[in-house]
Amino acid sequence: MDKITIAIDGYSSTGKSTLAKQLAKHLGYIYVDTGAMYRAITLFAMQNGYISAEYFDKETLVNSLSSIKLSFEFNSELGYAEMYLNNVNVEKEIRTIEVSNFVSKVAEVSQVRAKLVEQQKEMGKEKAIVMDGRDIGTVVFPDAELKIFMTASAETRAQRRFDELEAKGDNVTYEEVLKNVQERDYIDSHRADSPLVIADDAIEIDNSYLTREEQFAVVLELVEDVLTSLNK
Ligand code: DC
Repeated sequence: MDKITIAIDGYSSTGKSTLAKQLAKHLGYIYVDTGAMYRAITLFAMQNGYISAEYFDKETLVNSLSSIKLSFEFNSELGYAEMYLNNVNVEKEIRTIEVSNFVSKVAEVSQVRAKLVEQQKEMGKEKAIVMDGRDIGTVVFPDAELKIFMTASAETRAQRRFDELEAKGDNVTYEEVLKNVQERDYIDSHRADSPLVIADDAIEIDNSYLTREEQFAVVLELVEDVLTSLNK
């Protein structure tokens, strides 16, 4: 059976990672959440006092990049890999609203992107990978056999993220989450380096009104079409 590369891009909280995890599990592929990598670098910047609401010491962060080691370790209980920053599991810390508020600024830095894109390309060398992010189909794997671009209204996405944060006991309001979603949409799609754009050959899926199961069925059919066409 041919192994393919699946690139999943889209705005924040469109359920990219849920879909990517489901697909990877079903196909026996590796799943990589590239947002977690940008979040881990942001956490590093916060821990070292390089970024706060008032300022961002980009230069010191860039100079420290070579001392940041990012790795994924598979957690068999959860069924997916967790993010490690310099050998410490940071899976919980990178999902807070504070990290979400700073991450787009860090993701604008070209040197940060270059480091992460290089590592991502390396992880996908053998194919059999599902990777989600913002620039996977355009920059990381422009030759991916299947590219999906996910969208949903900002309100739908904010409600989903709010429900998740609230369930975890995070003390946030829906308005705060909506503001964060809208700000990140803007920064992500307007930055100079690798802005969030839909690749010419990507298939767009608006999941505002699709259940997880319906969405999975739609994408699985797309995967099967690609595999069939490769085996012809
Ligand atoms: O998918 P996420 O919300 O966890 O991503 C966090 C941030 O990281 C997002 O606001 C933009 C950035 N990002 C990026 O610039 N490129 C990627 N491939 C993945 C994420």
